[in-house]
Amino acid sequence: MTTARENELLTRIGPGTAMGDVMREYWLPVALSSEIEADGDPLRLMALGEKLVAFRDSSGRIGVLEHRCPHRGASLFFGRNEANGLRCVYHGWKFNVEGRCLDMPNLPLSQQGIKDKLRARAYRVVERHGAIWLYMGDRVEPPPFPDFELNDLAPDAISLRVIQQEYNWLQGLENDLDTSHFGFLHLGGADPEQMVPGDLLYYLARDRAPQYQIEETPLGFMYGAYRPGDSGNLQWRLAQFMAPCWVIPPAGMLADQIMIKGYVPMDDTHTFVITIARAGTMQMPARLRSGAPIPGLASNTIGGGEYRANTTDWFGRWRLVNSAENDYLIDRAAQRHGGVFSGIAGLAVQDAAVGGMLGEIADRTREFLTPSDAMIMRLRRKLLALIETRMSDGGASLPGVGEPSAYRGHRAGNFVAPAGKPFREAYEEMIRRYANTVPRWAAE
Ligand code: FES
Ligand SMILES: [Fe+2]
Repeated sequence: MTTARENELLTRIGPGTAMGDVMREYWLPVALSSEIEADGDPLRLMALGEKLVAFRDSSGRIGVLEHRCPHRGASLFFGRNEANGLRCVYHGWKFNVEGRCLDMPNLPLSQQGIKDKLRARAYRVVERHGAIWLYMGDRVEPPPFPDFELNDLAPDAISLRVIQQEYNWLQGLENDLDTSHFGFLHLGGADPEQMVPGDLLYYLARDRAPQYQIEETPLGFMYGAYRPGDSGNLQWRLAQFMAPCWVIPPAGMLADQIMIKGYVPMDDTHTFVITIARAGTMQMPARLRSGAPIPGLASNTIGGGEYRANTTDWFGRWRLVNSAENDYLIDRAAQRHGGVFSGIAGLAVQDAAVGGMLGEIADRTREFLTPSDAMIMRLRRKLLALIETRMSDGGASLPGVGEPSAYRGHRAGNFVAPAGKPFREAYEEMIRRYANTVPRWAAE
């Protein structure tokens, strides 16, 4: 059972909070590269409860600064992005991507030396996989970039998807590890008799109460949900949690799925959810015998969901049309008669909706958890352990921080293995074969 204090610890991420301190030890993606053009409009960015402004200078470099000008606090969002710097519209001070002050035009020449004494708060930035990543911690040297398996892929082999969730970061992350909802929220209306035997979702529809195994990993843990397959095999459905806010959901087949999905807190009640994946692998084979798609699953592709038009507000990007205000456009007739269990269309929309139903910050003290929630309990324990580690040694031994290679050997997805083969052994075999590496395991 989660206490009120634990819930506070787990969910609050602003400056000076325990979980916020953990997050600040890691590289986190906060926007897509395509959102920011050289010499284009500055972008309001909210990350870990901090209001920031991002711009791309004339040379193509990204700057991410505290949005308040260090002079008298005007917002640099209104700044002029010109000639390799962002110029505040109030008194004309100009800052480069590192926060250095280049010009104080309201001071006479004799006083220009003052500008060397001032730095705007700027965060370290890297661009990888089409995303803009920040290091928001205090270290002089940021940690090395994680050695994700994705790093091996060519840029054009990567697909990106972003959704903003209008609730706390942990709700979406927990949902991705809460595999037992799949047979209901997403697949509850599917009749296995109508499905094609051998398709992946056929097994999920046939057995909606799988068993689970959980294994520790260097970065967190992974679970396997298993159910009987064919010819004495088991169908495994495996997902990973990796510190601090990554999940690899079983969106496709483990043999070819390379993916990370980050739940990056914007503030306590908004989350930037980014999926970075090998293009074309987020597919779950499934169809009805009639050839029609499974109702409500949006052509069986992970994704789905239209976006509202962007605004320049702190939370004006990547918002789905289906929202709490319109009850996620629930279709009661489809819920009653149309074979769509939830009445909500599209897998990603269904997931976003249940996160929102829990409220802005879920009250975890009122839950009734059962063995099917073992992953949720493990996740909270892991996150509390990260907080503990950060508090005891300042973060030096947080998993993955000083050890980018810890991110290797982590995959998720669906696979088949002979019944009787232990979970970890079956996983290791798959990783050796398909990820061409040897998984490293924490000593137990
Ligand atoms: S407040 Fe920005 S230059 Fe004065
Ligand atoms: Fe889901």
